[in-house]
Amino acid sequence: MGKSVRIAIIGTGTISHRHMKVWSHIPEAKIVAAADINESVLKKWGEQYHLPEKDLYTDFREMLKRDDIDAVDVCVFNNLHAPIALYVMKAGYDCYLEKPMSATYYDSKLVYDCAKATGRKLAVQISSLFSAQTLIAKKLIDAGKLGEIYHARVSETLWRRRPHVDRSAAGLSESYQDKAMAGHGVLIDTGIYHIGQMLFLLGLPEVDVVLGKLHQKVHIGNPDWADSNQYAVHRPMGVEEMGVGFAVFKNGLSLEICEANATNVSEAGHSYITGSRGGLQYSIPDAFGGDWSMGMPPFGQLPEVIRPTLTYTGLDEFGFAVTTDYRPYENMQDLKHYDPLMTQWFDNQQHWYNYLTGVLTEETRYDTPLIALKTSLLSEGIVLSSERGTAITAEEIKALSKSDAMWHQQTPWGTFDYDATF
Ligand SMILES: NC(=O)c1ccc[n+]([C@@H]2O[C@H](COP(=O)([O-])OP(=O)(O)OC[C@H]3O[C@@H](n4cnc5c(N)ncnc54)[C@H](O)[C@@H]3O)[C@@H](O)[C@H]2O)c1
Repeated sequence: MGKSVRIAIIGTGTISHRHMKVWSHIPEAKIVAAADINESVLKKWGEQYHLPEKDLYTDFREMLKRDDIDAVDVCVFNNLHAPIALYVMKAGYDCYLEKPMSATYYDSKLVYDCAKATGRKLAVQISSLFSAQTLIAKKLIDAGKLGEIYHARVSETLWRRRPHVDRSAAGLSESYQDKAMAGHGVLIDTGIYHIGQMLFLLGLPEVDVVLGKLHQKVHIGNPDWADSNQYAVHRPMGVEEMGVGFAVFKNGLSLEICEANATNVSEAGHSYITGSRGGLQYSIPDAFGGDWSMGMPPFGQLPEVIRPTLTYTGLDEFGFAVTTDYRPYENMQDLKHYDPLMTQWFDNQQHWYNYLTGVLTEETRYDTPLIALKTSLLSEGIVLSSERGTAITAEEIKALSKSDAMWHQQTPWGTFDYDATF
Protein backbone atom coordinates (compact mmCIF):
# COMPACT_ATOMS: atom_id res chain seq x y z
CA MET A 1 0.00 0.00 0.00
CA GLY A 2 1.45 3.34 -1.07
CA LYS A 3 1.20 6.68 0.66
CA SER A 4 -2.22 8.25 0.88
CA VAL A 5 -2.67 11.48 -1.11
CA ARG A 6 -5.72 13.68 -0.55
CA ILE A 7 -6.81 15.28 -3.80
CA ALA A 8 -9.28 18.06 -4.62
CA ILE A 9 -10.77 18.48 -8.10
CA ILE A 10 -11.52 21.82 -9.77
CA GLY A 11 -14.06 21.49 -12.60
CA THR A 12 -16.53 18.61 -12.46
CA GLY A 13 -17.45 18.58 -16.18
CA THR A 14 -16.98 15.94 -18.86
CA ILE A 15 -13.33 15.01 -18.38
CA SER A 16 -13.49 14.87 -14.59
CA HIS A 17 -15.47 11.64 -14.93
CA ARG A 18 -12.63 10.02 -16.82
CA HIS A 19 -10.24 11.18 -14.09
CA MET A 20 -12.53 9.63 -11.49
CA LYS A 21 -12.55 6.36 -13.39
CA VAL A 22 -8.75 6.29 -13.18
CA TRP A 23 -8.60 7.47 -9.56
CA SER A 24 -10.82 4.49 -8.69
CA HIS A 25 -7.89 2.24 -9.72
CA ILE A 26 -5.52 4.05 -7.32
CA PRO A 27 -7.14 3.64 -3.88
CA GLU A 28 -4.33 5.58 -2.14
CA ALA A 29 -5.40 8.68 -4.09
CA LYS A 30 -8.42 9.91 -2.18
CA ILE A 31 -10.75 12.50 -3.71
CA VAL A 32 -11.75 14.58 -0.70
CA ALA A 33 -13.30 17.72 -2.22
CA ALA A 34 -14.49 19.17 -5.52
CA ALA A 35 -15.40 22.57 -6.93
CA ASP A 36 -17.42 23.80 -9.89
CA ILE A 37 -19.17 27.11 -10.54
CA ASN A 38 -22.12 25.15 -11.96
CA GLU A 39 -23.99 24.17 -8.82
CA SER A 40 -26.29 21.59 -10.37
CA VAL A 41 -23.42 19.82 -12.18
CA LEU A 42 -21.44 19.85 -8.92
CA LYS A 43 -24.31 18.43 -6.84
CA LYS A 44 -24.94 15.61 -9.28
CA TRP A 45 -21.22 14.87 -9.32
CA GLY A 46 -21.12 14.80 -5.51
CA GLU A 47 -23.99 12.30 -5.45
CA GLN A 48 -22.33 10.12 -8.07
CA TYR A 49 -19.03 9.92 -6.19
CA HIS A 50 -20.50 10.00 -2.66
CA LEU A 51 -18.98 13.30 -1.58
CA PRO A 52 -21.04 15.08 1.10
CA GLU A 53 -22.21 18.66 0.48
CA LYS A 54 -19.67 20.07 2.93
CA ASP A 55 -16.91 18.94 0.52
CA LEU A 56 -18.45 20.58 -2.56
CA TYR A 57 -17.60 24.20 -3.38
CA THR A 58 -18.88 26.66 -5.94
CA ASP A 59 -15.81 28.80 -5.23
CA PHE A 60 -12.63 26.74 -5.47
CA ARG A 61 -10.73 29.44 -3.59
CA GLU A 62 -12.75 28.57 -0.46
CA MET A 63 -11.91 24.90 -0.97
CA LEU A 64 -8.20 25.66 -1.12
CA LYS A 65 -8.36 27.25 2.36
CA ARG A 66 -8.74 23.75 3.83
CA ASP A 67 -5.75 22.22 5.56
CA ASP A 68 -6.38 18.57 4.64
CA ILE A 69 -5.70 18.70 0.88
CA ASP A 70 -2.36 17.53 -0.53
CA ALA A 71 -2.77 18.12 -4.27
CA VAL A 72 -5.20 19.47 -6.85
CA ASP A 73 -6.49 18.03 -10.12
CA VAL A 74 -7.54 20.84 -12.52
CA CYS A 75 -10.24 19.95 -15.09
CA VAL A 76 -11.52 23.35 -16.26
CA PHE A 77 -11.59 24.66 -19.85
CA ASN A 78 -8.37 25.70 -21.64
CA ASN A 79 -8.41 29.45 -21.05
CA LEU A 80 -8.68 28.92 -17.29
CA HIS A 81 -5.72 26.54 -17.16
CA ALA A 82 -3.14 29.26 -16.51
CA PRO A 83 -5.25 31.37 -14.09
CA ILE A 84 -6.31 28.39 -11.96
CA ALA A 85 -3.04 26.42 -12.14
CA LEU A 86 -1.20 29.54 -10.98
CA TYR A 87 -3.69 30.05 -8.16
CA VAL A 88 -3.35 26.42 -7.07
CA MET A 89 0.46 26.38 -7.09
CA LYS A 90 0.72 29.78 -5.38
CA ALA A 91 -1.63 28.46 -2.69
CA GLY A 92 0.98 25.75 -2.05
CA TYR A 93 -0.51 22.74 -3.84
CA ASP A 94 0.98 20.30 -6.31
CA CYS A 95 -1.03 20.36 -9.50
CA TYR A 96 -2.21 17.92 -12.16
CA LEU A 97 -3.41 19.97 -15.11
CA GLU A 98 -5.59 18.87 -17.99
CA LYS A 99 -4.21 19.43 -21.47
CA PRO A 100 -3.42 21.65 -23.29
CA MET A 101 -1.10 23.44 -20.88
CA SER A 102 -2.73 26.64 -22.20
CA ALA A 103 -4.01 28.00 -25.49
CA THR A 104 -0.97 30.20 -26.10
CA TYR A 105 2.76 29.81 -25.59
CA TYR A 106 2.75 32.89 -23.33
CA ASP A 107 0.23 31.35 -20.94
CA SER A 108 1.94 27.95 -21.00
CA LYS A 109 5.21 29.64 -20.09
CA LEU A 110 3.50 31.31 -17.11
CA VAL A 111 2.36 27.90 -15.85
CA TYR A 112 5.81 26.39 -16.43
CA ASP A 113 7.63 29.24 -14.71
CA CYS A 114 5.19 29.32 -11.80
CA ALA A 115 5.85 25.64 -11.05
CA LYS A 116 9.60 26.36 -11.04
CA ALA A 117 9.20 29.50 -8.90
CA THR A 118 6.91 27.86 -6.32
CA GLY A 119 8.66 24.48 -6.38
CA ARG A 120 5.34 22.67 -6.79
CA LYS A 121 5.07 19.30 -8.53
CA LEU A 122 3.26 20.01 -11.78
CA ALA A 123 2.15 17.47 -14.37
CA VAL A 124 0.21 18.08 -17.58
CA GLN A 125 -2.13 15.40 -18.89
CA ILE A 126 -0.63 14.07 -22.15
CA SER A 127 -2.04 10.57 -22.38
CA SER A 128 -0.27 9.69 -25.64
CA LEU A 129 3.03 9.60 -23.73
CA PHE A 130 1.55 6.77 -21.70
CA SER A 131 0.80 4.55 -24.64
CA ALA A 132 2.76 1.41 -25.35
CA GLN A 133 3.55 2.89 -28.77
CA THR A 134 5.53 5.68 -27.13
CA LEU A 135 7.34 3.34 -24.77
CA ILE A 136 8.33 0.93 -27.54
CA ALA A 137 9.18 3.66 -30.06
CA LYS A 138 11.42 5.41 -27.51
CA LYS A 139 13.30 2.19 -26.78
CA LEU A 140 13.85 1.51 -30.49
CA ILE A 141 15.01 5.08 -31.13
CA ASP A 142 17.35 5.11 -28.12
CA ALA A 143 18.82 1.79 -29.27
CA GLY A 144 19.65 3.34 -32.65
CA LYS A 145 17.23 1.17 -34.67
CA LEU A 146 16.25 4.16 -36.82
CA GLY A 147 19.79 5.43 -37.38
CA GLU A 148 19.84 9.20 -37.87
CA ILE A 149 16.28 10.52 -37.73
CA TYR A 150 15.80 13.28 -40.29
CA HIS A 151 12.05 13.67 -40.86
CA ALA A 152 8.74 12.98 -39.14
CA ARG A 153 5.06 13.56 -39.61
CA VAL A 154 2.31 14.19 -37.08
CA SER A 155 -1.05 13.46 -38.57
CA GLU A 156 -4.48 12.73 -37.28
CA THR A 157 -7.55 13.69 -39.26
CA LEU A 158 -10.98 12.67 -38.10
CA TRP A 159 -14.04 12.66 -40.27
CA ARG A 160 -16.40 14.14 -37.70
CA ARG A 161 -18.50 16.21 -40.01
CA ARG A 162 -21.91 14.88 -39.12
CA PRO A 163 -23.17 15.69 -35.63
CA HIS A 164 -24.29 12.98 -33.21
CA VAL A 165 -27.93 12.93 -32.18
CA ASP A 166 -27.41 13.02 -28.42
CA ARG A 167 -24.40 15.30 -28.18
CA SER A 168 -23.25 18.75 -29.12
CA ALA A 169 -21.50 19.33 -32.44
CA ALA A 170 -19.40 16.32 -33.32
CA GLY A 171 -19.47 15.27 -29.66
CA LEU A 172 -17.46 18.31 -28.61
CA SER A 173 -18.51 20.27 -25.52
CA GLU A 174 -19.44 23.96 -25.66
CA SER A 175 -16.27 24.94 -23.82
CA TYR A 176 -14.36 23.22 -26.64
CA GLN A 177 -15.97 25.24 -29.41
CA ASP A 178 -16.21 28.65 -27.79
CA LYS A 179 -13.22 30.85 -28.65
CA ALA A 180 -13.21 32.70 -25.30
CA MET A 181 -13.12 29.49 -23.29
CA ALA A 182 -11.08 27.25 -25.59
CA GLY A 183 -8.65 29.72 -27.13
CA HIS A 184 -8.06 27.36 -30.03
CA GLY A 185 -9.43 24.14 -31.45
CA VAL A 186 -8.03 20.90 -32.71
CA LEU A 187 -4.46 22.19 -33.07
CA ILE A 188 -4.05 22.48 -29.30
CA ASP A 189 -6.70 19.93 -28.32
CA THR A 190 -5.79 16.57 -29.84
CA GLY A 191 -2.73 18.35 -31.25
CA ILE A 192 -0.93 18.20 -27.92
CA TYR A 193 -1.29 14.41 -27.89
CA HIS A 194 0.23 13.94 -31.30
CA ILE A 195 2.75 16.80 -31.38
CA GLY A 196 3.79 16.21 -27.76
CA GLN A 197 4.30 12.50 -28.39
CA MET A 198 6.41 13.23 -31.46
CA LEU A 199 8.55 15.95 -29.85
CA PHE A 200 9.25 13.61 -26.93
CA LEU A 201 10.30 10.81 -29.30
CA LEU A 202 12.48 13.18 -31.29
CA GLY A 203 14.29 14.24 -28.11
CA LEU A 204 12.63 17.67 -27.71
CA PRO A 205 14.60 19.39 -30.49
CA GLU A 206 14.78 23.21 -30.61
CA VAL A 207 12.45 24.81 -33.16
CA ASP A 208 14.14 26.95 -35.78
CA VAL A 209 11.28 28.04 -38.06
CA VAL A 210 7.56 27.25 -38.53
CA LEU A 211 5.14 27.82 -41.41
CA GLY A 212 1.49 27.11 -40.71
CA LYS A 213 -2.15 27.64 -41.52
CA LEU A 214 -5.39 27.29 -39.55
CA HIS A 215 -8.71 26.47 -41.24
CA GLN A 216 -12.28 26.97 -40.10
CA LYS A 217 -14.33 25.93 -43.11
CA VAL A 218 -16.26 22.76 -42.43
CA HIS A 219 -19.76 23.19 -41.09
CA ILE A 220 -20.09 20.49 -38.49
CA GLY A 221 -23.20 21.44 -36.57
CA ASN A 222 -24.06 23.27 -33.38
CA PRO A 223 -25.43 22.27 -29.98
CA ASP A 224 -28.98 23.43 -30.82
CA TRP A 225 -29.52 21.42 -33.94
CA ALA A 226 -31.04 18.34 -32.28
CA ASP A 227 -34.66 19.50 -32.44
CA SER A 228 -34.38 20.64 -36.04
CA ASN A 229 -33.11 19.00 -39.18
CA GLN A 230 -29.74 17.67 -38.09
CA TYR A 231 -28.33 17.67 -41.58
CA ALA A 232 -29.26 21.29 -42.28
CA VAL A 233 -28.20 23.21 -39.16
CA HIS A 234 -24.48 23.14 -39.73
CA ARG A 235 -22.03 25.95 -39.09
CA PRO A 236 -18.28 26.22 -38.48
CA MET A 237 -17.11 26.01 -34.88
CA GLY A 238 -15.79 29.10 -33.08
CA VAL A 239 -12.28 27.62 -33.26
CA GLU A 240 -10.24 26.02 -36.02
CA GLU A 241 -11.10 22.51 -37.10
CA MET A 242 -7.82 22.07 -38.94
CA GLY A 243 -4.24 23.13 -38.29
CA VAL A 244 -1.38 22.35 -40.66
CA GLY A 245 2.25 23.24 -40.43
CA PHE A 246 5.81 22.55 -41.37
CA ALA A 247 8.65 23.00 -38.91
CA VAL A 248 12.41 22.83 -39.23
CA PHE A 249 14.46 22.31 -36.08
CA LYS A 250 17.89 23.70 -35.23
CA ASN A 251 19.38 20.19 -35.55
CA GLY A 252 18.16 19.94 -39.18
CA LEU A 253 15.15 17.68 -38.53
CA SER A 254 11.94 18.49 -40.42
CA LEU A 255 8.35 17.85 -39.27
CA GLU A 256 4.97 18.02 -41.01
CA ILE A 257 1.86 18.57 -38.90
CA CYS A 258 -1.70 17.95 -40.00
CA GLU A 259 -4.27 17.97 -37.23
CA ALA A 260 -7.97 18.03 -38.07
CA ASN A 261 -11.24 16.96 -36.52
CA ALA A 262 -13.57 17.65 -39.42
CA THR A 263 -12.27 16.93 -42.87
CA ASN A 264 -13.93 15.52 -45.93
CA VAL A 265 -11.13 13.02 -46.28
CA SER A 266 -11.70 9.58 -44.88
CA GLU A 267 -8.04 8.58 -44.63
CA ALA A 268 -5.22 11.10 -44.68
CA GLY A 269 -2.41 8.99 -43.27
CA HIS A 270 -0.91 8.91 -39.82
CA SER A 271 2.21 9.84 -37.92
CA TYR A 272 5.59 8.42 -38.86
CA ILE A 273 9.28 8.91 -38.11
CA THR A 274 11.95 8.11 -40.64
CA GLY A 275 15.68 7.68 -40.16
CA SER A 276 18.71 6.63 -42.14
CA ARG A 277 18.37 2.99 -41.02
CA GLY A 278 14.69 2.47 -40.24
CA GLY A 279 11.32 4.09 -39.74
CA LEU A 280 8.28 3.82 -37.49
CA GLN A 281 4.70 4.16 -38.63
CA TYR A 282 1.57 4.43 -36.55
CA SER A 283 -1.87 3.11 -37.44
CA ILE A 284 -3.20 5.73 -35.02
CA PRO A 285 -1.09 7.86 -32.67
CA ASP A 286 -2.62 6.26 -29.58
CA ALA A 287 -3.98 8.95 -27.29
CA PHE A 288 -6.04 6.74 -25.01
CA GLY A 289 -3.44 6.61 -22.29
CA GLY A 290 -3.99 3.09 -21.12
CA ASP A 291 -7.03 1.01 -20.45
CA TRP A 292 -7.94 2.52 -17.06
CA SER A 293 -9.08 5.78 -18.61
CA MET A 294 -11.05 4.17 -21.40
CA GLY A 295 -12.22 1.04 -19.60
CA MET A 296 -10.84 -1.07 -22.44
CA PRO A 297 -12.07 -4.62 -22.92
CA PRO A 298 -9.56 -7.50 -23.20
CA PHE A 299 -7.36 -7.35 -26.30
CA GLY A 300 -9.29 -9.90 -28.32
CA GLN A 301 -12.46 -7.84 -27.97
CA LEU A 302 -10.91 -4.49 -28.83
CA PRO A 303 -12.38 -2.74 -31.84
CA GLU A 304 -9.87 -2.40 -34.68
CA VAL A 305 -9.84 1.40 -34.43
CA ILE A 306 -8.42 1.39 -30.90
CA ARG A 307 -5.96 -1.43 -31.47
CA PRO A 308 -2.98 0.69 -32.46
CA THR A 309 -0.06 -0.76 -34.32
CA LEU A 310 3.51 0.45 -34.47
CA THR A 311 5.30 -0.77 -37.56
CA TYR A 312 9.06 -0.76 -37.95
CA THR A 313 10.43 -0.87 -41.48
CA GLY A 314 14.18 -1.10 -41.91
CA LEU A 315 17.08 -3.43 -41.51
CA ASP A 316 17.39 -6.21 -38.96
CA GLU A 317 20.66 -7.18 -37.24
CA PHE A 318 21.68 -9.27 -40.30
CA GLY A 319 21.02 -6.40 -42.68
CA PHE A 320 17.79 -7.93 -44.05
CA ALA A 321 14.93 -5.56 -44.85
CA VAL A 322 12.00 -6.23 -42.50
CA THR A 323 8.60 -4.87 -41.59
CA THR A 324 7.61 -5.66 -38.01
CA ASP A 325 4.49 -4.83 -36.01
CA TYR A 326 5.35 -4.27 -32.38
CA ARG A 327 1.73 -4.91 -31.21
CA PRO A 328 1.72 -2.18 -28.55
CA TYR A 329 -1.52 -3.01 -26.78
CA GLU A 330 -0.62 -6.68 -26.25
CA ASN A 331 2.85 -5.75 -25.04
CA MET A 332 1.41 -3.25 -22.60
CA GLN A 333 -0.86 -5.90 -21.11
CA ASP A 334 2.05 -8.33 -20.72
CA LEU A 335 4.39 -5.74 -19.22
CA LYS A 336 1.76 -4.69 -16.69
CA HIS A 337 0.98 -8.28 -15.85
CA TYR A 338 4.57 -9.23 -15.03
CA ASP A 339 5.54 -5.98 -13.31
CA PRO A 340 2.79 -3.96 -11.58
CA LEU A 341 5.13 -0.93 -11.34
CA MET A 342 4.98 -0.70 -15.16
CA THR A 343 1.53 0.84 -14.77
CA GLN A 344 3.22 4.16 -14.05
CA TRP A 345 4.39 4.23 -17.69
CA PHE A 346 0.90 3.44 -18.98
CA ASP A 347 -1.22 5.84 -17.01
CA ASN A 348 -0.95 9.60 -16.55
CA GLN A 349 -2.51 9.73 -13.11
CA GLN A 350 -0.57 6.76 -11.73
CA HIS A 351 2.55 8.52 -13.01
CA TRP A 352 1.62 11.76 -11.19
CA TYR A 353 0.68 9.87 -8.02
CA ASN A 354 4.06 8.06 -8.10
CA TYR A 355 5.82 11.39 -8.66
CA LEU A 356 3.96 12.96 -5.73
CA THR A 357 4.88 10.09 -3.44
CA GLY A 358 8.53 9.91 -4.49
CA VAL A 359 8.47 6.65 -6.47
CA LEU A 360 9.35 8.76 -9.51
CA THR A 361 11.70 11.71 -9.19
CA GLU A 362 12.17 14.93 -11.15
CA GLU A 363 14.83 13.03 -13.14
CA THR A 364 12.94 9.78 -13.78
CA ARG A 365 9.43 11.07 -14.45
CA TYR A 366 8.25 12.22 -17.86
CA ASP A 367 8.77 16.00 -17.82
CA THR A 368 5.25 16.71 -19.06
CA PRO A 369 5.42 20.47 -18.32
CA LEU A 370 8.48 20.83 -20.57
CA ILE A 371 6.97 18.62 -23.30
CA ALA A 372 3.72 20.62 -23.10
CA LEU A 373 5.61 23.94 -23.23
CA LYS A 374 7.59 22.88 -26.31
CA THR A 375 4.35 21.69 -27.92
CA SER A 376 2.80 25.09 -27.17
CA LEU A 377 5.71 26.85 -28.90
CA LEU A 378 5.18 24.81 -32.04
CA SER A 379 1.39 25.19 -32.14
CA GLU A 380 1.71 28.92 -31.44
CA GLY A 381 4.15 29.07 -34.37
CA ILE A 382 1.42 27.64 -36.61
CA VAL A 383 -1.14 30.15 -35.27
CA LEU A 384 1.12 33.21 -35.64
CA SER A 385 2.42 32.12 -39.03
CA SER A 386 -1.17 31.62 -40.19
CA GLU A 387 -2.08 35.12 -39.02
CA ARG A 388 0.77 36.89 -40.74
CA GLY A 389 1.10 34.65 -43.77
CA THR A 390 4.84 34.04 -43.53
CA ALA A 391 7.11 31.61 -41.73
CA ILE A 392 8.12 32.52 -38.19
CA THR A 393 11.19 31.78 -36.09
CA ALA A 394 11.16 30.42 -32.54
CA GLU A 395 12.54 33.72 -31.25
CA GLU A 396 9.69 35.62 -32.96
CA ILE A 397 7.08 33.22 -31.55
CA LYS A 398 8.40 33.82 -28.03
CA ALA A 399 8.39 37.58 -28.54
CA LEU A 400 4.95 37.83 -30.20
CA SER A 401 2.93 35.36 -28.14
CA LYS A 402 0.34 36.96 -25.84
CA SER A 403 -1.99 35.82 -23.11
CA ASP A 404 -5.39 34.59 -24.19
CA ALA A 405 -6.40 33.37 -20.73
CA MET A 406 -9.52 34.45 -18.83
CA TRP A 407 -8.01 36.51 -16.01
CA HIS A 408 -11.44 37.91 -15.03
CA GLN A 409 -14.18 35.30 -15.13
CA GLN A 410 -17.88 36.14 -14.87
CA THR A 411 -19.54 33.44 -12.74
CA PRO A 412 -22.96 33.08 -11.06
CA TRP A 413 -21.04 33.90 -7.87
CA GLY A 414 -19.57 37.19 -9.08
CA THR A 415 -16.38 37.93 -10.98
CA PHE A 416 -13.43 35.70 -10.17
CA ASP A 417 -10.26 37.77 -10.59
CA TYR A 418 -7.06 35.85 -11.14
CA ASP A 419 -3.54 37.12 -10.77
CA ALA A 420 -0.81 36.41 -13.33
CA THR A 421 2.07 37.33 -11.02
CA PHE A 422 4.05 34.94 -8.84
N1 LIG B 1 -14.03 16.25 -22.88
C1 LIG B 1 -13.01 15.49 -23.23
O1 LIG B 1 -13.18 14.41 -23.85
C2 LIG B 1 -11.62 15.90 -22.87
C3 LIG B 1 -10.59 14.98 -23.10
C4 LIG B 1 -9.30 15.29 -22.71
C5 LIG B 1 -9.05 16.52 -22.14
N2 LIG B 1 -10.04 17.44 -21.96
C6 LIG B 1 -9.69 18.76 -21.40
O2 LIG B 1 -10.35 18.95 -20.15
C7 LIG B 1 -10.68 20.32 -19.97
C8 LIG B 1 -12.14 20.43 -19.62
O3 LIG B 1 -12.90 19.89 -20.69
P1 LIG B 1 -14.37 19.32 -20.48
O4 LIG B 1 -14.73 18.66 -21.75
O5 LIG B 1 -14.43 18.55 -19.20
O6 LIG B 1 -15.17 20.69 -20.33
P2 LIG B 1 -16.56 20.91 -19.61
O7 LIG B 1 -17.04 22.21 -20.09
O8 LIG B 1 -17.41 19.70 -19.74
O9 LIG B 1 -16.14 21.03 -18.05
C9 LIG B 1 -15.47 22.14 -17.50
C10 LIG B 1 -16.08 22.42 -16.14
O10 LIG B 1 -15.33 23.47 -15.50
C11 LIG B 1 -16.27 24.23 -14.76
N3 LIG B 1 -15.69 25.54 -14.38
C12 LIG B 1 -15.58 26.67 -15.14
N4 LIG B 1 -15.01 27.65 -14.40
C13 LIG B 1 -14.75 27.14 -13.19
C14 LIG B 1 -14.17 27.67 -12.01
N5 LIG B 1 -13.74 28.94 -11.93
N6 LIG B 1 -14.07 26.88 -10.92
C15 LIG B 1 -14.51 25.59 -10.96
N7 LIG B 1 -15.09 25.03 -12.06
C16 LIG B 1 -15.19 25.80 -13.17
C17 LIG B 1 -17.46 24.33 -15.68
O11 LIG B 1 -18.63 24.73 -14.98
C18 LIG B 1 -17.53 22.90 -16.22
O12 LIG B 1 -18.36 22.08 -15.42
C19 LIG B 1 -10.31 21.05 -21.28
O13 LIG B 1 -9.14 21.77 -21.12
C20 LIG B 1 -10.12 19.92 -22.29
O14 LIG B 1 -9.11 20.20 -23.23
C21 LIG B 1 -11.32 17.13 -22.31
